[in-house]
Amino acid sequence: MRDPGLVRDGAVLVRDGNIIAVGTRRRVERLPAARGAKKLDLGGRVVLPGLVDSHTHLIFPASRAAEYEQRIAGATYEEIARKAGGILSTVLSLRRAKPEALKTRALAALRQFAAHGTTTLEAKSGYGLDTKSELATLRLLSELHQEQPIDIHSTFLGAHAVPPEFRGRGGAYVDFLARELVARVALLGLAEFCDVFCDRGAFTVAQARRVLTAGRACGLVPRLHAEQLSRTGAARLAVKLDAASADHLDKINSADIRALAASNVVATLLPGCSFHMGLADYPPARKLLDAAAVVALATDYNPGTSPTLSLPMIMSIACSQMHMSPAEAIAAATINPAYSLRRHARIGSLEVGKYADLAIFDVEDYREIPYYFGVNHCVMTMKRGEIVYSRDGI
Ligand code: NIG
Ligand code: FE
Repeated sequence: MRDPGLVRDGAVLVRDGNIIAVGTRRRVERLPAARGAKKLDLGGRVVLPGLVDSHTHLIFPASRAAEYEQRIAGATYEEIARKAGGILSTVLSLRRAKPEALKTRALAALRQFAAHGTTTLEAKSGYGLDTKSELATLRLLSELHQEQPIDIHSTFLGAHAVPPEFRGRGGAYVDFLARELVARVALLGLAEFCDVFCDRGAFTVAQARRVLTAGRACGLVPRLHAEQLSRTGAARLAVKLDAASADHLDKINSADIRALAASNVVATLLPGCSFHMGLADYPPARKLLDAAAVVALATDYNPGTSPTLSLPMIMSIACSQMHMSPAEAIAAATINPAYSLRRHARIGSLEVGKYADLAIFDVEDYREIPYYFGVNHCVMTMKRGEIVYSRDGI
């Protein structure tokens, strides 16, 4: 991860949306296959593989800026959640929202993702929490996947919170998910992954195991919100279940780090949460990297804990607050999340046979991507060889 594989004065040769050659411009331009190719001169800017955001809650109806203000004044995320704010307030407004309004908002967000260099993302349900609204969210995700250029991989997160109609009966809700809804989602082909918010105030390790095992039995690959607010043992569960990813991991201990490092579970860090919530502590990225765990970074784009869709901003936070090197941050926002989405054969790096998914940054040195923070330097994004975003003047 420390070696970005930099090619100076490089070129990428694209045909039918795929990379068919990559290397120095001198070499690529001389290839017989390059004869007659249309040339796009990027003026020496930095070209990265399209960024891969492996943890988002794309579909939600509105911001929770009022809660943000309450937290700034001293209320905690968990206090707000206990008073039916937090996730449940988004659930109530999503259930009331007009489908077209949800779609319009998601389309605007997807354009912004593309404008920040993201070409593939994972998106979770989990603000519906009943059959109708969960299926509607997942159907919307598959519609969006078809209708616009960014690839969307869906995750069923029915176990995000206990919905109001099951208040005080979390066990019964878990039964309903494990016996009914998980299978329904899988049979309809509406998700590839299944996730559980396993934490204090959410679902226990035993409940998470139940939902994820039921999902796995019908082909949904497990992912897990693990050890964000408290250490519960969720990261170890992710290892036992051979989950694609364990996400957050703020509260893991050294035994968890060893277990993750010895596994193929991607440790997906979401430092936008600590940043937005004003916390002093960040997930232990350095320890995970030094133990040789597979580390990814994602935005966790959601209205409660991380309202950003900028992976470059997340990379800035990762470098400055978690001591990741710029090269590590780039690998953690490209090939490693591609692996957690089981798409590493087609995306996540600039290699022959992969999609021509490119993010072009108007900087002279790749280290300037995290270095300049809070400013978007992405000037062009290409998905399978098509320009899907470009800023005036390029
Ligand atoms: O990943 N932790 C649980 N889920 C989200 C927050 C969702 C919300 O507050 O709406 C997260 O941080
Ligand atoms: Fe999340």
